[in-house]
Amino acid sequence: MRKNIVAGNWKMNKTLQEGLNLATELNAALADTKLNCDVVIGTPFIHLASVAASIDTKVIGVAAQNCADKESGAYTGEISAAMVKSTGADYVILGHSERREYYGETSEKLNSKVALALANGLIPIYCCGEALEVRNADEQNAYVKNQLEETVFNLSTDDFSKIVIAYEPIWAIGTGVTASTEQAQEMLAFIRGLIAYQFGKDMAENTSILYGGSCNAKNAAELFAQPDIDGGLIGGASLKVADFKAIIDAF
Ligand code: 13P
Repeated sequence: MRKNIVAGNWKMNKTLQEGLNLATELNAALADTKLNCDVVIGTPFIHLASVAASIDTKVIGVAAQNCADKESGAYTGEISAAMVKSTGADYVILGHSERREYYGETSEKLNSKVALALANGLIPIYCCGEALEVRNADEQNAYVKNQLEETVFNLSTDDFSKIVIAYEPIWAIGTGVTASTEQAQEMLAFIRGLIAYQFGKDMAENTSILYGGSCNAKNAAELFAQPDIDGGLIGGASLKVADFKAIIDAF
């Protein structure tokens, strides 16, 4: 079901105590407010269980920022989708460009991660998006199409209906350069068109597609007013309650 979603991605920020404070303060700020979007926070792995136990997860969903591409076993340092689910988290961010770029996440690995996330009842927030060279060469549509065709477009109709897509142009992440409203809307409409072609019009209408990349309290309302932008995946601005709440309130 298509929903408006504002999801925070804390990345590698906040100690456990700081993260708990942020989550509980956000929970207090949102309690008794009528929300026009679902709210999710993507915390570091070690925060998940404590955060999930300290907030009302009906008000704020909890997301991991990754999970393993293997089910279980001798994979030192890895965290499985089942482990993530057992913390009380309901979502997992997969395919973030930082993981693709710095940790060698290939489409093949991402296919395993998405499959394991779904098998364990997690909702993947699946990221795609092009680098600046690709945008400068005006090849962003073909690039994003390929990212989707190699991964989530291979899912069954039933599985695809459970995922959320996030378009995050790499050149807009953490740079303060937001894609213009037109660029973001154009790409999200393009992605929705691809979903319609692959899975049918109803699926396209029912898929939540988020924009991410320097989304903040100032630009969120204009972005979220676009017909194909169903919310945001927020990095830096999710680390302060007031900033994140202002983005939530943009709906
Ligand atoms: P910023 O909002 O800090 O640009 O980060 C976006 C992002 O990568 C969210 O996943």
